[in-house]
Amino acid sequence: MFELLFIPPLLIGALGIYIWYKQKYSTTIPCSDLSPVYGHLHKVSLNDNSYLAFNESEMLKHKHVYNFWLGPLDPTAYVCSTSGVKAVLQNSEEKGYEYKALIPWFGQKSIILSTGSYWKNKRNKYAEMFRADVLKDYVKIYAQNAETLMNKWFEDAEANREIDLLCDIKKLTLCVGNECIFDNKLEMFSKETEEYHHRMESMAKVIFDRNINPFFKYEFIHKLSNNYKETSKLIKELDEISNQLLIKKKEKYDRDASFKSIIDLLLDVQHDMIENNEEPMSDKEIIGEINSLLFAAHDTSSHAILWTFYCISKYPEVENKIIKEINEVLGDRDVIETDDLSKLKYLKKVVNESLRLYPPAAMFTRKLNSDIDVNGHIVKGGNDVVVFVYLIHRNPLHWKDPNTFNPDRFDETPELYSFLPFSTGSRNCIGKFFALNEIYTVLGMFYKRMRMKIDKSYMPRPSIILKPHETMMGRIEVQ
Ligand code: HEM
Repeated sequence: MFELLFIPPLLIGALGIYIWYKQKYSTTIPCSDLSPVYGHLHKVSLNDNSYLAFNESEMLKHKHVYNFWLGPLDPTAYVCSTSGVKAVLQNSEEKGYEYKALIPWFGQKSIILSTGSYWKNKRNKYAEMFRADVLKDYVKIYAQNAETLMNKWFEDAEANREIDLLCDIKKLTLCVGNECIFDNKLEMFSKETEEYHHRMESMAKVIFDRNINPFFKYEFIHKLSNNYKETSKLIKELDEISNQLLIKKKEKYDRDASFKSIIDLLLDVQHDMIENNEEPMSDKEIIGEINSLLFAAHDTSSHAILWTFYCISKYPEVENKIIKEINEVLGDRDVIETDDLSKLKYLKKVVNESLRLYPPAAMFTRKLNSDIDVNGHIVKGGNDVVVFVYLIHRNPLHWKDPNTFNPDRFDETPELYSFLPFSTGSRNCIGKFFALNEIYTVLGMFYKRMRMKIDKSYMPRPSIILKPHETMMGRIEVQ
């Protein structure tokens, strides 16, 4: 009986030796301030800017790659230089653990989550759907929705009201996404849109909460949690909306229609597959595709627009140059048309510079196929790695005065792999030009009539998307 008293101290001692061994000898990838108890969790909080600040200091010390320890036993390599990104993208195909939370909503066969020849085949079909001549038809939709928002902001300006910018811009991108992807016209400031917006927000929150909880890595624990129940309920509700839209669309589907939304193009693909005796995409798969596209398009684009407004508001000389350019391009018109977009050269540099400092997809993860060597440090195959876009964009190895906002740096083409707001390579963002056209249209139409005032400073925080804490408030002035 007495001997049993020795068991707990022995177990604690063995665990201590295991942690010491694991932290000291299991990896040669550097890091700083590692706690034997917390890993790096004691250095960061979700309630302030400490996660980005700590990682920025790690990037400045270690330059190419370092380990971030989520607790005492769980290191992940964070890659923050171009040589690291190149090695990761060339030696990985599967996305990292964080994407697992999306499987029940998007389906394993969706463009975002599938791999191998299935993904390649699908990606080729998507490339057709996102061709420049298809996308040009959507500029009208961006402009109509931008006009609705501008009219509201015009009234807000006249009443000298402070505006919740993020909330309004999210409604805009939700309406644009619904119309271009689903062929579903929403009223931007209606109760229906408000509810839809809340469901999408709740969905993003439960996915984030799942990913930051280390216990939820074990499926059986997650299945017992409230997070699982809430996620299942939201998926059911959002699937129901998508299902109704698909049924409505199928009733009026016309192969020869002159305008095609993405859902029309997906139905074209489904029909082609039937005609070619291939196994067609099921309706469930189409619903997974449209869910994933809307999710990929909505939050990213709204934050890109928001952070660009933020950057411009801090630099009146930049704002003046944009206003001058937009007046020259539009003349008497207030509404942007497709041909105007290629002429907004200065605005493009400003958007690039904002995407550099505030990339909405601040990081993404990959599972390595095989070992990679990042500047003499071996990252083991089979492990997940983080490509830390936010840090690569601020790494002094690749950018002069990285924390200075200077749109003119884009007079020169950035070094390969150093500018990754839409990732790069075969798995880059398929919606890049969809998003950029939308961003230029909204900003162009805004600066034709108004100016933005954002007095407070907002520090970014990583969630699924790089966002300000809670929201961002601003005031509009009519020119
Ligand atoms: C400013 C807006 C956007 C940003 C910053 C952005 C960023 C990204 C990034 C970084 C990736 C790669 C993620 C990874 O490899 O893990 C990606 C993939 C993707 N994006 Fe976007 N995106 C934006 C807008 C859009 C839009 C508007 C759409 C569609 C309408 C879209 C659809 C997709 C899809 C389908 C993928 C997965 C592609 C594949 O795996 O083959 N994105 N995006």
